[in-house]
Amino acid sequence: MENLSSTRKLANGVKIPCIGYGTWQTPGGDVARDSVKKALELGYRHVDTATVYGNEASVGEGIRLSGVKREDVFLTTKQWTNERGFENTMAAAERALKTLGVDYLDLYLVHWPAVEKLSPDWAAINAETWRGFEKLYKDGKVRAIGVSNFMPAQLAALKECAEVQPMVDQVEFHPGYIQRNVLDYCRENGIVVEAWSPLGSGRLLADPLVNEIGAAHGKSAAQTCVRYALQHGIVPLPKSVTPERIAANADVFDFALTDAEMAALDAMPETGYSGYHPDDAPAG
Ligand code: A2P
Repeated sequence: MENLSSTRKLANGVKIPCIGYGTWQTPGGDVARDSVKKALELGYRHVDTATVYGNEASVGEGIRLSGVKREDVFLTTKQWTNERGFENTMAAAERALKTLGVDYLDLYLVHWPAVEKLSPDWAAINAETWRGFEKLYKDGKVRAIGVSNFMPAQLAALKECAEVQPMVDQVEFHPGYIQRNVLDYCRENGIVVEAWSPLGSGRLLADPLVNEIGAAHGKSAAQTCVRYALQHGIVPLPKSVTPERIAANADVFDFALTDAEMAALDAMPETGYSGYHPDDAPAG
């Protein structure tokens, strides 16, 4: 049976634990520090943060306080949109490493792409940023590099100029909002997809269909959503600062959704959609 230490393989062979502990909307300070420590004590081995979340220092502290060795934690952070470009990328990564208190990252992501609708030179901006990511990768500062919120148009443009292809695309994904075009592109190109808001940021947790499907397995709506992402071959990043929920969200390895249940969750309305899309101003 799989567990929180089970991994998926990135294109460069690096192993990524199959569920990550999400920290979007977790305030920096005691809350982030204590919840990250708790997640690691409960067996999570993958922590996802971002510079714009404002909690990197506390996330780093929580990892150190947990006593889990650095090399046993898969740590991701993301570069914010005001840090684009080659030189800015190098400086941003140095600052993130320092704030987190680590000497390498497991995964560094471009948080949002520059897009045609907002910047005429979007492709050049993304290419220049990516050149910085490739340098960080070659220098051994990061074990893997990837992107977040990239749609096929931005992925395809990057593919044209990249020496090292992105290993991950982290996008919004949950029942009713599966961005199938992104999933298909990533599967065809060997890119692992991670799910942000796998519970629809909580918006799906009262949904009758999700609850009904979960109840058939003796599971909650949150557990159903996490399991749903896993069965899609996606790495979910559920966020909770509540110890019981942190534990519950990882108790998903002892049941399986049927094909019919998966199809019903695929087809349900976009109840959990955040409203954030790369063609609009990015969300922090
Ligand atoms: P909290 O952090 O206060 O426990 P997502 O991962 O999709 O962004 O969803 C995160 C939201 O869902 C947070 O508001 C979180 O609340 C809530 N949440 C996370 N896990 C559970 C759970 N097992 N049961 C109920 N609510 C949950």
